[in-house]
Amino acid sequence: MKGVILVEPHKVEVRQIPDAEIQESTDVLMRVTSTAICGTDLHFYEGRMPYNGKLIGHEPLGVVEEAGSAVKYVKKGDRIVVPTHICCGFCSNCVRGYSAACLTTHPGAAGAAYGYPNQGDYAGAQAELVRIPFADANCLKLPGEPGDQWEHDFVLLADIFPTGWHANELARVEAGDSVAIFGAGAVGLMAAYSARLRGASDVYVVDAVTERLGKAAELGAVPINFREEDPVQQIMERRKKKRMDTAFRDEHVMDGVMCGIDAIGFQARSREDYSKEDPNWVIAALAELVNPTGRIAVVGVFPPQDPEGPDPAEQKGELTVPWGKLFKKGISIGLGRDQDERYNLMLRNMVVNGTARPGQIVSHRIPIEQAPEAFAQFDGRANGYIKVVLDPRQ
Ligand SMILES: NC(=O)c1ccc[n+]([C@@H]2O[C@H](COP(=O)([O-])OP(=O)(O)OC[C@H]3O[C@@H](n4cnc5c(N)ncnc54)[C@H](O)[C@@H]3O)[C@@H](O)[C@H]2O)c1
Ligand SMILES: [Zn+2]
Ligand SMILES: [Zn+2]
Repeated sequence: MKGVILVEPHKVEVRQIPDAEIQESTDVLMRVTSTAICGTDLHFYEGRMPYNGKLIGHEPLGVVEEAGSAVKYVKKGDRIVVPTHICCGFCSNCVRGYSAACLTTHPGAAGAAYGYPNQGDYAGAQAELVRIPFADANCLKLPGEPGDQWEHDFVLLADIFPTGWHANELARVEAGDSVAIFGAGAVGLMAAYSARLRGASDVYVVDAVTERLGKAAELGAVPINFREEDPVQQIMERRKKKRMDTAFRDEHVMDGVMCGIDAIGFQARSREDYSKEDPNWVIAALAELVNPTGRIAVVGVFPPQDPEGPDPAEQKGELTVPWGKLFKKGISIGLGRDQDERYNLMLRNMVVNGTARPGQIVSHRIPIEQAPEAFAQFDGRANGYIKVVLDPRQ
């Protein structure tokens, strides 16, 4: 089969590799119809979370090619999407809804994923075929046919739409809330879209990439370019104007937002120079911007260590966090991986009943052979590359 191999930093190749196969009776084999490139893959591509020589990818949509003898509820020919995080469905974390912290799929740790370093060594999903363990727990059945109007909505159910929703759960975004999201990649855009679906009244999205900010505006958010002006000040100014219309007591200390979301992670760029990194900056901005009693969600990835990080604390996986300010404001913070199984059924139903169209953020659909060019462009956040879907059948 064809698969996308990360050869070395900044180099991927599409190679012929042995076909994925059923290994356990509880597996199915998926024939992939769409497989997306994620911002997470770029951490590997840039060599910051080393994964050289491996098949990458963790966002596949497809059809069951073959089902193991113990699989009961999924059959050959079923259209399915699987979450990034591989779960068993029966361990004490899975049954409590924490499928990204499954205790059996990566023994000795909590959580497994396809094509990801230190997540159980499962082969990646940017390939023609993928082995899906514990298929009855992981496969989400879908209506329709490959290539139909839902193809891009459904591929985003593997990771990005549930992650955007998860950010809103961690930040407890509710109807009428104000939300500031840092990062307008696919995760930030899906966080903004989810906030709007949940009834948030003011959603701000901060980035510096014009096409991505344009997409945020299309989704009903206010785009804020952090290179043009200080985003904290820009958002506070706008909030202050609104308060003049709506407040009924002296509420100036609440001129920030109730909810903040970090959808960037450890490779956040510096405000002064987009070519440099400044991992401490986003949490500092959020601590400033989020109101007393507010909530912050961090869904951008932070690895346990980052030896090539720009800051000595970051190299040890530590950040400078304004703890005192956060304490004084009584802010709650939630971090971590998307607990995909908790949301993907509900989000699928929102797609099927026409409430949600997450696929509108897909900017490119290209044959898998063009993965090297797509990685280079996406890594540059260039030329309108927002979310790339690879087609392994072309
Ligand atoms: N928690 C999870 O389960 C989960 C799931 C998927 C992805 N992720 C992580 O989420 C993060 C985002 O993923 P993505 O696919 O959207 O990636 P992406 O790289 O396409 O998007 C990140 C965006 O952040 C912007 N950015 C960089 N520095 C900034 C700053 N200081 N202020 C504002 N914007 C800034 C970039 O311009 C870019 O548009 C990654 O770290 C990824 O690994 C986490
Ligand atoms: Zn992903
Ligand atoms: Zn489990």
